[in-house]
Amino acid sequence: MTEDRHYRMPRVLKDEDDLHPSNPTSGATFQDVASIRFSRRAALMGLLATSALTAVGAAVGPLREAKAAAGPSSLQFAEIPHGYDAEFHVAEGYEAQILLRWGDKVLAGAPEFAPGKLTADGQAKQFGYNCDFIGYLPLPAGSDNSENGLLFVNHEYTNPHMMFPGFSDAKAAAAGTTAETTAIELEAHGGSVVEVKKEGGAWKVVDGSKYNRRITLNTEMEVGGPVAGHDRLKTSADATGKKVLGMINNCAGGWTPWGTILTGEENFHQYFGGDPSGTAEAANHKRYGLKGEPSYPWGKFVDRFDATKEPNEPNRFGWIVEVNPYEPDQPPVKRTALGRFKHEGAQAVVSADGRVVAYTGDDERFEYVYKYVSNGTFDPAAGFANSTLLDDGVLHVAKFADDGNVEWLPLVHGQGELTEANGFKSQADVLIEARRAADLLKATKMDRPEDIEVDPKSGKVYVVLTKNDKRKADQVDGVNARADNKWGHIVELTPPAKDGKADHAATKFAWDIFLQAGDPKDAAQGAKYGGEVSESGWFANPDNIAFDPKGRIWISTDGFPDFGVHDGVWAADTDGAGRAITKHFVGCPRGAEMCGPVFTPDGQTLFVSVQHPGEEDESNFDAPTTRWPDFADGVPPRPSVVAIVKKGGGEIGS
Ligand code: FEO
Ligand code: CA
Ligand code: CA
Ligand code: CA
Repeated sequence: MTEDRHYRMPRVLKDEDDLHPSNPTSGATFQDVASIRFSRRAALMGLLATSALTAVGAAVGPLREAKAAAGPSSLQFAEIPHGYDAEFHVAEGYEAQILLRWGDKVLAGAPEFAPGKLTADGQAKQFGYNCDFIGYLPLPAGSDNSENGLLFVNHEYTNPHMMFPGFSDAKAAAAGTTAETTAIELEAHGGSVVEVKKEGGAWKVVDGSKYNRRITLNTEMEVGGPVAGHDRLKTSADATGKKVLGMINNCAGGWTPWGTILTGEENFHQYFGGDPSGTAEAANHKRYGLKGEPSYPWGKFVDRFDATKEPNEPNRFGWIVEVNPYEPDQPPVKRTALGRFKHEGAQAVVSADGRVVAYTGDDERFEYVYKYVSNGTFDPAAGFANSTLLDDGVLHVAKFADDGNVEWLPLVHGQGELTEANGFKSQADVLIEARRAADLLKATKMDRPEDIEVDPKSGKVYVVLTKNDKRKADQVDGVNARADNKWGHIVELTPPAKDGKADHAATKFAWDIFLQAGDPKDAAQGAKYGGEVSESGWFANPDNIAFDPKGRIWISTDGFPDFGVHDGVWAADTDGAGRAITKHFVGCPRGAEMCGPVFTPDGQTLFVSVQHPGEEDESNFDAPTTRWPDFADGVPPRPSVVAIVKKGGGEIGS
């Protein structure tokens, strides 16, 4: 199947970008292919012989052994087949509860969802479009309550031809954009916070909860860190450079040890029209893919989306945004110390010595993997005051060597190439142009870094690389080992141990390939799993991941429809005999990608996002290819959050 099998508006632009990736440098060291080995586990064992990570992992040892005796995988569900149809599928014995649909009430005064009759005021109070990342935060804060909590959900982008009647496809909808549709789409972006409760085995939204909240492209936000107040962030609407309206294209995310959400602004370039080439920011905007030909022609109606009129406005997007769902009146903060690029998401953990480390990837072909290390240390008693740790620290970028080591290179103004001679006058410049800084450090160009998560059981870090079919044979390196990588892979990083804990702040880790996706029956694809996978156990295009309480990995996909198969969820053990043997648990309705997998602390609920159902060629509001989840005449498909539970209760996958 070809890449353009589905005509998907933002994807179309994405694919055009992919033809011309915005990283022009040739600095990456493409190494001797012959020296590349698939598994470095043996070397790793030597490197970490005294690793306490192993000891942490041993906490689940007995269970693993018991399961291993029964078969290679510890996952106890009957796999669903590959398929492609209008429905949502989950393994037998499980129940999929539709929890929140686009247009559902979030705030008091929200109108009933009325297809074809949307209003901006109504959308501002309703659940937004294209749900992506989901964070589950227990109530009360700091508890492990698995039956009452807050869901934070991203609304990544809008599909106007699926939201409004009368447009044959995405191009027609873009051409038909008006001030009114623009206003609605601004409110359909951002995020939602809702209180949710499980009663009698059924999840529901708590109507009228004081926590329920919409964050949109019109929500006032603060800027934190070294870039706050910088001239390059000042616009006609904001002379301070410290107040931004809204967040954009928020894809994945994570959480902090103090109970806040980190959400990643991804493809912000799609929203800015005008001609940036004539401005002082021309080179900067080019590196980030602004071409003056946005998917969303909002700049015709709202000046800040016209980069000729407001050349600094794009510099106010592309950040990690921190949101405190427990405090609905607290403004979100753009944490600029974590750098500006097309963030998939960010996940923060406490390192061995108490410093906070946040992993974050730049999701474009040939872009980089980053981590941020705070200067100060986490104080469990300090609550939200810990968030200043995200304003004072060092951003690093990853350089993978073929010997199984990865080095984290600091992006610090004045060090190495990051000087005024190269156009960086301060740390703010380094952070605004993090991509160019990373180019100069000759970081490793990756196959589209998506989610990066830490297995809480083992302390190992998993980097999801969704695909890169533009990588040529002479661009293959150890960690991106396939040319024309249509299928994606997952890299496992092992931090060294310090005082019995994972030293996430260390500058040198070991790496291994966890799996290479694709169909193992076709040797030419070079797929590699931990052992034999079933007929439906193989997959392509991993995007987001989650870990269950046993430390097993649950992988959601974005792109498998290009191979004629629904996107969905596949799960695997991360160690033992079932390591990297994936099993198929969930399948999406046609046209959708699967996002946001997250477990409640007890492992008994898996929340997932079904994003852009029916986003296919020939599909539109009036004649969609699926009407999931309502299946009612006149009602278009609705991106929705689904809660998956085991019938009769119990841990998922056990
Ligand atoms: Fe929005 Fe990287 O997927
Ligand atoms: Ca997405
Ligand atoms: Ca994603
Ligand atoms: Ca994706």
